[in-house]
Amino acid sequence: MNGMLSLKGGRACILAPSILSADPLSVGDAIRSLGGEGDWIHVDVADGHFVPNLTFGPMMVSALRRGFPDAFIDVHLMVTPAEDFIGMFMNTGPDIITVQAEAARHVHRTLQAIRDAGITPGVGIDPGTPVRVLEPVLHMVGLVLVMTVNPGFGGQKFLPETLSKVKHLVRERAVQSFDFLIECDGGVNSGTAGVLVKAGCDVLVAGSAVYESGDPARAAREIRRNAESEWRV
Ligand code: DX5
Ligand code: ZN
Repeated sequence: MNGMLSLKGGRACILAPSILSADPLSVGDAIRSLGGEGDWIHVDVADGHFVPNLTFGPMMVSALRRGFPDAFIDVHLMVTPAEDFIGMFMNTGPDIITVQAEAARHVHRTLQAIRDAGITPGVGIDPGTPVRVLEPVLHMVGLVLVMTVNPGFGGQKFLPETLSKVKHLVRERAVQSFDFLIECDGGVNSGTAGVLVKAGCDVLVAGSAVYESGDPARAAREIRRNAESEWRV
């Protein structure tokens, strides 16, 4: 994929607040309460099978696209089998659709189908999945999502053992001249953002730390400040 790293521009990180932690009765208001401090809208789709939670469907992504026509919408599918769900989301206006490697019967074919629909494909891995399983598909993705908690719920504690995967991906990307962004998802807050960015994370997903903070705009600024404090250009 070309041009993905340029999305980061000159910033320490792209911040992707997850609406999983927003009040379900007022998701639009929650996004607006960020006052532009968030970069992407992260949408966690959980199916009650791959993960023990049931969240949003394609109607939510369509509604977000209508309500926020210029937003960058980052859809994270935690559903299995992933290939049975991607068609439902293709016409809803997402910028990225990420599937979990563990949840696709044929991950290469699934990523190809997303790409053929003109949407940037992303691939994710759980904390218990080795990063090497991604090697055959790294050339075809625009984003690699490293789960830094076990998927399914917001508000869990960051797992530091996942950092070695971020570092491995940074090295592999440089050696092979790939162009994917590295996204970390789970347990991101103003205390963990710095260590993630230092390891090489480009996109920080943050749910509870932003939307359950009482002041989402301020929480987002604090995460960004912590990220900047550890960032090396
Ligand atoms: C977890 C989701 C995350 C979640 C992160 O399954 O993929 O995106 O919203 O929540 P926090 O930031 O609260 O750990
Ligand atoms: Zn997510």
